Parts: sequence; C-alpha cells; structure tokens
Amino acid sequence: FTQKSLEGKKIIVTAGPTKEALDPIRFFSNHSSGKMGYAIAEAARRAGAEVTLVTGAALADLSGVTTVRVTTAREMYDEVVNRYPEADAVIKAAAVADYRPEHVSMRKIKKSDGAMTVTMVRNPDILKELGVRKKDQVLIGFAAETDHLDENARKKLETKHLDLLVANHASDSFGEDTNKVTFFFADGKEQTFEKMPKRQVAVRICDALADLFEMSEP
Ligand code: C5P
Repeated sequence: FTQKSLEGKKIIVTAGPTKEALDPIRFFSNHSSGKMGYAIAEAARRAGAEVTLVTGAALADLSGVTTVRVTTAREMYDEVVNRYPEADAVIKAAAVADYRPEHVSMRKIKKSDGAMTVTMVRNPDILKELGVRKKDQVLIGFAAETDHLDENARKKLETKHLDLLVANHASDSFGEDTNKVTFFFADGKEQTFEKMPKRQVAVRICDALADLFEMSEP
C-alpha cells in the first residue's frame, strides 16, 4: 500500500499505559500494550515526519524516532506539553491513568487483616490541555470504550477540541496486534474500518493526518 507524505512535519505520538505508584513496590495501571502508538510512530516516520514518541510502554526503540520514556501521567504531561509549541500534530494513543493514589508511601505498605482503602485523585487530562493551548496543531485522540461508542466519541471530539478521534471497542484492541476502529472527524464525517493489523490502522491514521494538514493549509 502507498502512504501519503508527512515530509517536514513534526509529530508527537504518545503510547502505552502510565503507571501510578502506591509504594516502592506497587502501582496502578491498565492493559495498554503500546503497540498502536508504536505502529503510528513507525508509520509517521516512514511517511517522512520527524517523530517524537513519548511512551509508558517498554517496547523496543524504533530507529529514526526520538523516544522519551515516562512512567506517570504527570511525567507524560510535562514531556508532551513542553514540546507542544513546536509540534505540527499530536497523536495521543497512550492510555493515560485518570487517577493516581493521593499519597505515595516511601516504604512498602504492610498488609493487615482488614480491608484497605486508597484515595485516588485526578490526573491532568493531557489531551484536554492540548486542546485549550491549541494554535494550529492538528490533534488526534483515541477513545477505548466498552459502551456507547458513538455518543462518547462525538462528545470527546468536541470537549477536547480534536480534529480526529479514533474510537475502538476496548475488547477488540487491548494487547492485540489487530484493531477495529471508527474515525470521527470534527467536520462530522465518519469512517468505519474492518478489523485489521495495527500497522495498517497506523497507516490510515497517518493518511488522515496528511489530509488534515492539506485542508488546514492557507
Ligand atoms: O477521556 P478518555 O480518557 O477516554 O480520552 C482518551 C484520549 O484522551 C486518549 O487520546 C488519551 O491519550 C487522552 N487522555 C489524556 N490524558 C488523560 C486521559 C486521557 O491525554 N488524563
């Protein structure tokens, strides 16, 4: 398959889960493998873009891609927001933890016989912040949903000021090498794809990005 050019474009891709520590031994996280984000970074590089991958997944580094490893949502926030002014596009494939433990114990928490309660506080919503600070960057977000895919996707597209939202049914994607996605564009257009390898989904996303760049040119 051929791929549209992203020559000269600076693109930030995020991938993988974030991990939120409870104590030196334990953390809260999710099932994201990072495969989708890595596939996008690879496809964007092949299309000629200058790619920075900010990742919470420890997959093998991609050659020709600047890789920044992070652990927590707040670290990902700093790395992405600091690079944002110079970027032409951000593709947020990471599964960012929405909450983190309010207190991180410096020592391993000892078990007792009773139940244990952990208070969780909200993490910053990185993508929402990018939407607020948006100048002329193209913003692409992801939504892994188990219910009301369309409704939630449209809502997210609007509240986060995205140009494209890639929605997938969570059960069809986590950890797999394939993904079934629907594209929701800001102009109301919608495109549903068959289940396909993440490498191919990545190419479709990069092609859609190339189209969005073309449309936004004066
Ligand atoms: O609202 P929801 O978490 O489903 O939105 C998913 C999109 O928002 C993804 O693109 C994800 O990377 C991004 N996100 C974020 N920061 C968060 C939560 C989600 O950037 N704290």
